[in-house]
Amino acid sequence: MNKCSHTTLPLILGVFLLIAFTNPAYAQVNVVEALIEFKNLDGLVKSLKPEELNTLARQKTLKVFEVHEGRERQYKVYPAQSVFDQMFGPSWRIADEIIFTCQDGYRPSIPVAKFLTYDAYLAVASADSKPFTLSNALQNHEVVALGPAYLIWDNLKSPALLDEGASDMPYQIARIELASFAARFPGMFPPAGASAETKRGFLHFRKYCMACHTINGQGGGKAPELNYPVSVIEYFKPGYLKQWIDNPASLRYNTTMPALTVAIPEREKVIEEIIAYLTAMRDVKRMRPAGNSKQ
Ligand code: HEC
Repeated sequence: MNKCSHTTLPLILGVFLLIAFTNPAYAQVNVVEALIEFKNLDGLVKSLKPEELNTLARQKTLKVFEVHEGRERQYKVYPAQSVFDQMFGPSWRIADEIIFTCQDGYRPSIPVAKFLTYDAYLAVASADSKPFTLSNALQNHEVVALGPAYLIWDNLKSPALLDEGASDMPYQIARIELASFAARFPGMFPPAGASAETKRGFLHFRKYCMACHTINGQGGGKAPELNYPVSVIEYFKPGYLKQWIDNPASLRYNTTMPALTVAIPEREKVIEEIIAYLTAMRDVKRMRPAGNSKQ
């Protein structure tokens, strides 16, 4: 028995533990197998592993313009309409919104009408010999895992979708939920008697901001609350708020908030209407966290 083993063994163990706790490949061993939960207005319908989507629809390969990377990519996908038909029955088509809750806290609420107008797909793997990850050019080229599932749109067939940017393309989807927006997020509504500009701003906020941010505790879980207890309207100079939405990186180095999509029509007006909505919400502060919990 040499002296050395007393010192090297703990060292080796220490290095192993260090690797085990810092290396994501090891960390994943402890993660419970990823499931996608489907909920309707009455509660849980079913939880599935991504590969079990093949019991609901036929898998195919789809080429899209990958908005997050600014180039074309191919994914293995299931048509969303077929999955929803099988999972929820045909009545999903007359529902109000579909809310996607993601592992990273992102939570977009997408109108059902969009799924009836354009072809959406749930991607479960990469089909171009790359890992099922992407380098998100919209958020500092952060490399993100896309599974359990990633919502994409056939934007080569419908180029109008390209102007919308990436807000309706959630990845790391852990739950898909049929919902009535008003019942799920009552705290986000502008006050009674709000102007038409404020109401339009509310619609833009739902489309471009709420997936990450909360208002009165309701919305996404990826970025700070913007209204309670002190509204951003109260501590941002108006000019700076406009500049922030237009181009956050021009105010804060290394920020991970993406700029509002450049291609959206009447972008300047959209920003002003979003600010009108935030201004109106300043007068209706209330903490209603119920709609924001992970359940
Ligand atoms: C993809 C997620 C995401 C989206 C979408 C998003 N934000 Fe953000 N936002 C962030 C993150 C992350 C921060 C914190 C960034 C930082 O501090 O650098 C942030 C910070 C902010 C802040 C500053 C808050 C503070 O007190 O510092 C404001 C204001 C804001 N966002 C407004 C908006 C508005 C308005 C929209 C819609 C046009 C929007 N955000 C869309 C992620 C997002």
